[in-house]
Amino acid sequence: MTSVCVCVCVCVCVCVCVCVCVCVCVCVCVCVCVCVSTVLRLGSSVEALQAAKRAIHLADSVPRLCLTIGHLNRAMYFVCDNVLWAGKTGLAPSLDQHKWSQRSFRYYLFSLILNLTRDVYELRLLVECEGRYRASKGPGPPLSEDHLWAPSTPPTTAAWLRLRRRLQLVATVLRSNPPLLLDLAKNTCDLFIPLDRLGLYPTGAGFVGACGLASSVLSIVAVVQPWLKLKP
Ligand SMILES: *[C@@H]1O[C@H](CO)[C@@H](O)[C@H](O)[C@H]1NC(C)=O
Repeated sequence: MTSVCVCVCVCVCVCVCVCVCVCVCVCVCVCVCVCVSTVLRLGSSVEALQAAKRAIHLADSVPRLCLTIGHLNRAMYFVCDNVLWAGKTGLAPSLDQHKWSQRSFRYYLFSLILNLTRDVYELRLLVECEGRYRASKGPGPPLSEDHLWAPSTPPTTAAWLRLRRRLQLVATVLRSNPPLLLDLAKNTCDLFIPLDRLGLYPTGAGFVGACGLASSVLSIVAVVQPWLKLKP
């Protein structure tokens, strides 16, 4: 009789021990996950601040300004994202989540606009360079500037032809600069996400999802093929 009692006792003890162990394990796992995710989130902010510090030293003033302020905005975006995350996990239950999400998307949008400004600036420089190179290269293409302004050509046609030539120049420059093309495409895709979320230019969940997907694919391409990443 006593041996049965002892056996049951041992069994119960073992069960309780296993339960406690499992509970502790789960708790530790959750804690580790929360810590890692917090560190990663805070790490993003720190990384953005360091990128801003690096961008301050760029020689050209437009990329310097755009990238420095853009990275600072990105750091602020990550800070807002952290606060929002704290609200979602219940660490800060009284947080106004809508307000913080709008705030974070505003910083994100501003960062993207600055990135695009920088892309367009670089594109303009390259197009001007290419234009000068073509002009210097012997007899130009059949439609020279003089021809366009000849009295026989109506002004609207002339303007249209100039626009077409300009677009051809842009296409040539982009074709010979895949990193710039990739960055431009990625930033343009990204742009629709905050525009939709902030209600500035609603495009619908499907389109925003497609943009996000395209942007992710382009990011992966830039990671796999580092030469495709726009420098700095
Ligand atoms: C803006 O461009 C920089 C440098 O290319 C990049 O690190 C950053 O992620 C971009 N910002 C956004 C919001 O995509």
